[in-house]
Amino acid sequence: MNKNTKESRQLEHISTTICSSSTDGSELVAREISDLIRSRNADEQHAVLGLATGSTPIGVYRELVRLHKDEGLSFKKVLTFNLDEYHGLEPEHPESYAAFMDRHLFSLIDIPADATVVPDGKVPREDVFAYCKAYEERISEAGGIDIQVLGIGRTGHIGFNEPGSGRDSRTRLVHLDSLTRKDAARDFLGEENVPRYAITMGVGTILDARKIILLAWGDSKSEVFAKAVEEPVSDALPASFLQEHKDVRAFADEAAAAELTRKKSPWLVGPVEWTERTTRRSVAWLSSLLGKPILKLLDEDYSEHGLADLLTERGSAYELNIRVFNEVQHTITGWPGGKPNADDSHRPERSEPHPKRVLALAPDPQDGALGLGGTLHRLVDQGHEVTVAYLTSGNLSVPDGEAQKAVDIMLDLDESDSSEKSAFALQVKADLAGREAFGEDSPAIRKLKGLVRRGEARAAMEICGVYSSQIRFLNLPFYENGRFRSFEPREEDIVLFRELLEQIQPHQIYVTGVLSEPTTVQAVCYSCFQKAFELLRGEGWTKDCRCWSYRSDEREWSVEAIDMAVPLSPDELANKVKGIYQHRSQRSQTPVIGRTSLEAWQQAEAADRRLAETYDHLGLAEYEAIEAFSRCNP
Ligand code: GLP
Repeated sequence: MNKNTKESRQLEHISTTICSSSTDGSELVAREISDLIRSRNADEQHAVLGLATGSTPIGVYRELVRLHKDEGLSFKKVLTFNLDEYHGLEPEHPESYAAFMDRHLFSLIDIPADATVVPDGKVPREDVFAYCKAYEERISEAGGIDIQVLGIGRTGHIGFNEPGSGRDSRTRLVHLDSLTRKDAARDFLGEENVPRYAITMGVGTILDARKIILLAWGDSKSEVFAKAVEEPVSDALPASFLQEHKDVRAFADEAAAAELTRKKSPWLVGPVEWTERTTRRSVAWLSSLLGKPILKLLDEDYSEHGLADLLTERGSAYELNIRVFNEVQHTITGWPGGKPNADDSHRPERSEPHPKRVLALAPDPQDGALGLGGTLHRLVDQGHEVTVAYLTSGNLSVPDGEAQKAVDIMLDLDESDSSEKSAFALQVKADLAGREAFGEDSPAIRKLKGLVRRGEARAAMEICGVYSSQIRFLNLPFYENGRFRSFEPREEDIVLFRELLEQIQPHQIYVTGVLSEPTTVQAVCYSCFQKAFELLRGEGWTKDCRCWSYRSDEREWSVEAIDMAVPLSPDELANKVKGIYQHRSQRSQTPVIGRTSLEAWQQAEAADRRLAETYDHLGLAEYEAIEAFSRCNP
């Protein structure tokens, strides 16, 4: 065993349970909390919980509410302290953490109102220091926190302890990192509305809890989660301080755990069952580690880097290299719908039937152009019958300014007119003017915002070659009736989905959201799709239907997950970017000089280019950019 392998065995410094789903993980954690409450209460004592906000703990809260309703779990003798609160927001503000806790937990259980403590966002600046000191004292007076539940931010923060927060930091006022504010932008309808400061328990305060549970769901957390669990403790990643706690455990779903060494490069930490995917992953890993194309890897490269096993099982480097090289080579195709009249034994998609009925599903209107703008164009050019279904209206993420512009145009046109359209425009104008700050959008505002996004979607699809007659707008009700982080899909969503699938009976479906955090629009849409597909499984066309999963976030698939790689020429890439450009309402509303975070089209361009570079470095052809897909079984 080489040095590398030995070191990696002790890589996880926080004991981590990988759960089959976030629901399973949330149930385990809720059960642990309820056991604590019951055992404390049996001794006539209060249980003291440290609670978190964000999407991550929502499943735990949902399960606690269920335990309360179905199994009589009482919270009458529970005290809670929340980690943090935005500074400047009153508790009534819909995006305050106080409101969040009420919505997701406190109002749904029997906890006394004075037993729940959330930092007060309205404490005047000059009093914050004393307030924070008193917050700590209240925790001590309650006997300290028994269980602290935590999510992790993409900056590696816990609570709002951003990078730079020290091991001994206590409850205090902090300045929020720009990535944190970007992640909160959807809640506040634009980054400029996200408060700049927050009150948070310190790292030291968190570490004082007797037990800590860290949760991570969805692949957007995979990198930061692996760093927190495996990398050396550092104030550059405050969650890593948890490694120093004597009773800390982490729960992650498969997607969030994907970057842990035992998942990402399992050969470094123990025996491996060499499937086709792990083999491909290990060869791609070795090639990138050594900066050598696959076909130049030597026997000793494998054996010196913990992959001797693989050679024993799969033959010499020579044979292995050729096999994996060919596999990756065969993922590349310029014919995403299959090449008619061609031998398809080594092609990702079958040649027959041709043309195919293709259905591309875009959960958020922007997703389609982001994830498969180039591929859609090819599919249309190659004669397939392409339908793009926009699943949600996307109206929750249209800033008021965009709606205002649209309404002004309508009113200019209709100045002297008393038509229905004019009445609608006047209604929107009045609603926008009369709405309280952060009050919910009226139905008329939402309708107009949805129309703004429809226009953008049509413009984007025209650029990708898809006619407007081939576009469906589903406006799934879960989205129209919900809010970010608390969508609840119902039967009616599944029915609409089912009708769509039945009408089109596609040969190919492009989906996204397979690995997304479960409260996201993408994940909710994917689960509706799965349910609808399941209902139709008996129908003949489903047997002849292939599902391709695409990514619509800033990350690209890793090589072993790719089953189809569609190269884009420079012109095709430019055209795709132009398509994404059309989603104007989704641009950053306040350009900041020196901003480091990229706009959506820049992220998509960068991801497609990175993937092309990866293929190039493996020794395959050098393309400008690649859009990639993974086969999935709904
Ligand atoms: C916010 C909270 C954190 C939370 C993080 C991640 O910044 N202050 O406590 O862990 O968001 O949020 P989410 O769970 O939505 O990904």
